Amino acid sequence: MGIQIKEGACTSFHLFGRAFSYVIALTPEQQLVQVYYGPFVHPSNDFSELLKASPVGFSLQFESGLPYEKLSPEYGTFGKHHLKEGAFTLMTPQHVGIYDFVYDGYDIVTEKPDLEGLPSTRGGDETLVITLKSVSEPLALDLFYTVYSDLNILAKSSRFRNTGEKSYMIPMAMSGAYALGAGKYDALTFDGRWIKEFSLNRHEVHRGRQVYDNLLGVSTHAYQPYLAICDRLASETHGHAFGFALVYNGNHQMVVEKDIFEATEVKLGIHPHGFTWQLSPNEVFYTPEVISVFTEKGLGGISDAFHPFVLNYLSRGLAFEHSRVLVNSWEAMYFDISEEKLIQLGKQAHKLGMEMLVIDDGWFLNRHDDKSGLGNWLVDPVKFPNGLEVIQKETGLELGLWFEPEMTSDVNDPIIGTGHVTKSRNQYVLDFTNPSVVKSVFTKMCAILDEYPIRWIKWDANRPITEPYSTTIRHQGELYHRYQLGVYQLAQLLVERYPDLTIESCSAGGGRAGLGMFAYASATWLSDQTDAVERIRIQQAASLFLPLRSLGSHVTACPNHQVLRNTSLKMRRDVAIFGTFGYELNPLSLALEEADAVKEDILFFKSYRDILQYGRYMRLQSELTGHTNEFAHMVISKDKKTILVAIYQVLAQSSWQGLRLKLTGIEPEATYGIDEKRYTGLYLMHVGISITDCFTGAIQPVIGTLGTGDFSSALFVFKQLSHDY
Ligand code: DGJ
Repeated sequence: MGIQIKEGACTSFHLFGRAFSYVIALTPEQQLVQVYYGPFVHPSNDFSELLKASPVGFSLQFESGLPYEKLSPEYGTFGKHHLKEGAFTLMTPQHVGIYDFVYDGYDIVTEKPDLEGLPSTRGGDETLVITLKSVSEPLALDLFYTVYSDLNILAKSSRFRNTGEKSYMIPMAMSGAYALGAGKYDALTFDGRWIKEFSLNRHEVHRGRQVYDNLLGVSTHAYQPYLAICDRLASETHGHAFGFALVYNGNHQMVVEKDIFEATEVKLGIHPHGFTWQLSPNEVFYTPEVISVFTEKGLGGISDAFHPFVLNYLSRGLAFEHSRVLVNSWEAMYFDISEEKLIQLGKQAHKLGMEMLVIDDGWFLNRHDDKSGLGNWLVDPVKFPNGLEVIQKETGLELGLWFEPEMTSDVNDPIIGTGHVTKSRNQYVLDFTNPSVVKSVFTKMCAILDEYPIRWIKWDANRPITEPYSTTIRHQGELYHRYQLGVYQLAQLLVERYPDLTIESCSAGGGRAGLGMFAYASATWLSDQTDAVERIRIQQAASLFLPLRSLGSHVTACPNHQVLRNTSLKMRRDVAIFGTFGYELNPLSLALEEADAVKEDILFFKSYRDILQYGRYMRLQSELTGHTNEFAHMVISKDKKTILVAIYQVLAQSSWQGLRLKLTGIEPEATYGIDEKRYTGLYLMHVGISITDCFTGAIQPVIGTLGTGDFSSALFVFKQLSHDY
């Protein structure tokens, strides 16, 4: 299932799932050309005529007469059958380009190949491996394709092989290119910066090259490694849409190009800037994996594929099935933590129903502010005279602990950099290109994890790489990628040694939300922006690709520490439950009625936790589809019997026309109840929940009431009462 190969005058490779087809054909010159990516078409069809686009006068042609410029190489190099940049470049050490790659056969393997040192997705149907070889040099290229047919997902990566005795240079090795044809498309990317992560950038794909990239080295704040291309009018439920994501957190580049024939091509991979890999004799080089989905069901179709995909085939299983309701010490106390204070905080947290205490920054030697201490991974005996276990014993909470493994406060440590190395946030980046540096950090972390009952770690990284230089590597062009491999090596060592450890990845908030870290982690701390209003936007944007269980989200104190906004506890809860759900405030500072409300909220979350973390999540109104003031989403249990719907209003509007919030994905013929009211599925989908103007003087205590004033929210729980009406 998922792969069909037709050999003959025109060999073709057809990769397909329930609702997509992806077809590669071979030219008479033995070049691979991507001829189709779109809705499913039966493999019995002959795709060879797609090669026969009419040539353009004065343009380049294959010897067979096929027009280069109108065809999209599957994995092409500039200067051969591609007069665009191409997906890879290979050179001799004398900088002579190697252009003569031709098809050399294929294989189908049942076990998905491991990408040696890189994170990758698991499972899938069979994997197709197509091999290209250089006619002149002992070089081969293996292209890997794994289909997840139920989810309409295709995973690609490539391997460069040097089977000879000299070295070659790889100045560019993208993970994959995609020919999307001549549609009128929008591109959606997520740019950002600290406390402004996942800002939506939706715009028309215009002629020329649009590049979205990241060169920060450590984090991916600038552009997240996610890209969607969809019909201009695509909504959450309709329209052709493609979703792309790199399983990588290093420097990356995503290029969307609409060419002179109006055809759109996309490619994603390691950023070629600052990158040149030396391929030594008998060595191989793997590109990171790139995941794509095609759907006819709009942006929601992308999420419907990616959410179960990330949960089932990538994200490392939680040590516990569900994420814990945690309390994090950061916004509660920042660096001012101690055994006594955390025990008091934890006891109260436990009373309110919280399950885990995460000791954030500040627990280790010489860490009183952000000016020193990184790298000292030893418990501060003054703040914690009895170690950490006592906190667990006294509070009854499980323990989580913050680390920033890649960083040091000491310039004399083995750091990345040359000359005067910039001190950013008073710290330096350790040279993770050096495996012995990785090993020594691992050993220090093990000492803590072996001694204390830590179930969960938050892995942070708070500065980018500057003055990129390492004393230990052969070629500085390998630095960024080797650094990233070092990060993955540490993560791998940790999860192997502590299979019960859960990791939340973080980089100054949401700088490491790319899929790569999910091979080791179950969640990402999406942003240090904890204001409920700002958070809806961030969480909804991230949810295009990431499931709710992976979106780190907390209720914090008001006025909010980032924007000084006051929002109700209810709104903060209504936002945070659409994520991992935790608290990042001092429960002792809550007023009595607030503490009662928090207790209720936690009970509420626990009773719907399974649905919130594993149900089907759908955005109803979000920035992705042009909404700016009222946002809404829903989650439905697997058996479709319980639905949670939330709507948020940023600013109250006078004489507002109200809206009808139409649900989706529910049983059309079932009857759903909420309080005393009854609705059929069809009613909820076509007529919708009436959200009325409740700011006209009389607040209506009925379903549809949004609360009062600015920054309000409503949460509805519908239960299926009967399967048909
Ligand atoms: C940045 C993180 O995003 C915060 O949540 C917190 O852990 C700080 N670092 C601690 O230094």
